[in-house]
This record gives sequence, C-alpha cells and structure tokens, in this order.
Amino acid sequence: MRRFGTLVAGAWVLSACGSTETDSTPAAPAEPGAVTSTTDELGDELTSFDAVTGYNNYYEFTTDKESVASLAKDFQTTPWTLTVGGMVAKPQTFALEDLMKQFPSEERIYRLRCVEGWSMVIPWLGFSLQKLLTTVEPTSEARYVRFETVSRPEEMPGQRDDYFRWPYVEGLRLDEAMNDLTLISTGLYGKQLLPQNGAPLRLVVPWKYGFKSIKSIVKIDLVDQPPQSLWMAAAPNEYGFYANVNPDVPHPRWSQSSERRIGELSRRPTLRFNGYAEQVAHLYDGMDLKENF
Ligand code: MTE
Repeated sequence: MRRFGTLVAGAWVLSACGSTETDSTPAAPAEPGAVTSTTDELGDELTSFDAVTGYNNYYEFTTDKESVASLAKDFQTTPWTLTVGGMVAKPQTFALEDLMKQFPSEERIYRLRCVEGWSMVIPWLGFSLQKLLTTVEPTSEARYVRFETVSRPEEMPGQRDDYFRWPYVEGLRLDEAMNDLTLISTGLYGKQLLPQNGAPLRLVVPWKYGFKSIKSIVKIDLVDQPPQSLWMAAAPNEYGFYANVNPDVPHPRWSQSSERRIGELSRRPTLRFNGYAEQVAHLYDGMDLKENF
C-alpha cells in the first residue's frame, strides 16, 4: 500500500466544506431507501448516504476516493454470476437473481473501520455467508475461504496499472467466514448496491479492517491454505492475513488507537474488534494478535 493511507482525511474535510479537489463529473444522483434505525447498537448515528456512496476505496477504478463513484457509474453488474467451489461437495455457479432469491437479504447496521484510520456506520442489506457456504457443503479438508473480485481491465482503469497483482483477492479462516456477522452484501440504505460500493455482491466483515471486505465478487473457493491477498502481496509487513481491528497494534506507519468517524471533526477511540469482541474474540483464543496482525 504505497498509496494506501496517504489520501486519508484531508480530501473529505474539504468536500464536506463545499469545495472539491477534483474536476471529475459527478455520478448520477442516487437516493437512499428506507432504513429501520438511525443508529447502530451502540447508539452511533448512521453515516450519511452521500458519504457512504461518495467517499470510497475501490482501487480498480482509482485511488481518489471522491472520484470512484463517477468512474464506476457505468460498470456493468448484470448479468453476473458467482462461482463457489474448491473443497466442497456441491460446487455451484449462481446467477445473481437466483442467489438473491435463495438467500433473502436483511438489514445489518455495521461499523466499517478502514485501516487508514477513518470509519463509517452503514446500514447494509445482505445475508450471512454461512448460509451460502453451508449450501455447497465444505469438505473436511477445507480450512480457509478465498474471495476474488471480477477482472475487467477494460472497465476498470486501475486494473491496467500493474503496481498491484490483480485481481483483488481476500481470504478468511473458515470459522471466521462461518461467523454469523460475516455478510455477503447486496445493498445498503434499503437499495441495491451502487458500483462504487462493490455491486452487485461484496463481503462485509465488520470486526476487520475494511480492506478485507472485498467488492464485486465473482468467485469463492474453499481451500486448505491461507490465501494470499492483494494487500499481503503488495506490503506483507503492513497488511496481514487477519487484519482484525485492534487499537493496540499500530500500523507500521501510523497509530490505530483512534479513528475519525466520517461526518465528525474530532477523533474517537478505536474499539477492539471494532466493537464486536463479544461475538468474535473467542475465534482468536490463544493467538498472539500482535504477531497475527
Ligand atoms: N475491494 C476491491 N475489490 N477493491 C478495493 O480497492 N477496497 C477495500 C474494500 N474492498 C477495495 C475493496 C477498502 S480499503 C475498504 S476501506 C472498503 O472496501 C471500502 O468500502 P466502501 O467504499 O464501500 O466504503
């Protein structure tokens, strides 16, 4: 992540004050749909729809967070298929519409904490990955899950830059993937995902840094070794396999003890496992989380 972390706070503050740093064409306006609550379970307010859909990390398009929406607006998300295979008894390719019928989406309000030090509260729509994995029946050798983003350099200008090893890949341990919090998201703010947020299908793992929440997924494989992610390949000493939100383990180039909630001016303390310790801390019993960062 030569570039990761250098674009953090400044750009948003500027645009929130009404000026823009870029001259890119704005994306077609989109409106939020209905949500069931205006806060998360800690009482923190939802981040505005405009911020959630206007300030994005999606390196396949650009590293400029405020230009992702306009550059991604024509990204083709239909037709779309998701192939689930590897160490499973019943490999399957799902058409998007069948997947959405088979696994109805529900609302999940989660905090998203980017490794760069900013965070949001997002009302996602989606279903537990566990339901999908159970359907394909992982074999007893399966230990990890590997996720892959679509490869479309003709539509995604960032994929023509060979600094990164495309396509974007991420991974989870099988028990992490089977935790009920782990979501395949199909929408947010009561509507289908927009391209900038990883349409039509993206992962959301709320207790891990945002880079684990891989966008526009086409392939999921059950495997027996920890998959190497795009970020691990780019900077192994900075981005580990686990990437659990942890205020006590600094990134080599900055502290992780506090964060800036988008829409707020002052920083707030970062919570262990992003506030989800009760649901997930047991997954790491006996592990040294400084070593397994
Ligand atoms: N997935 C892909 N394929 N490409 C990316 O660049 N960025 C990650 C993650 N998923 C990224 C990705 C990072 S760093 C973050 S913080 C989140 O997406 C941001 O999600 P959002 O733009 O929907 O808030």
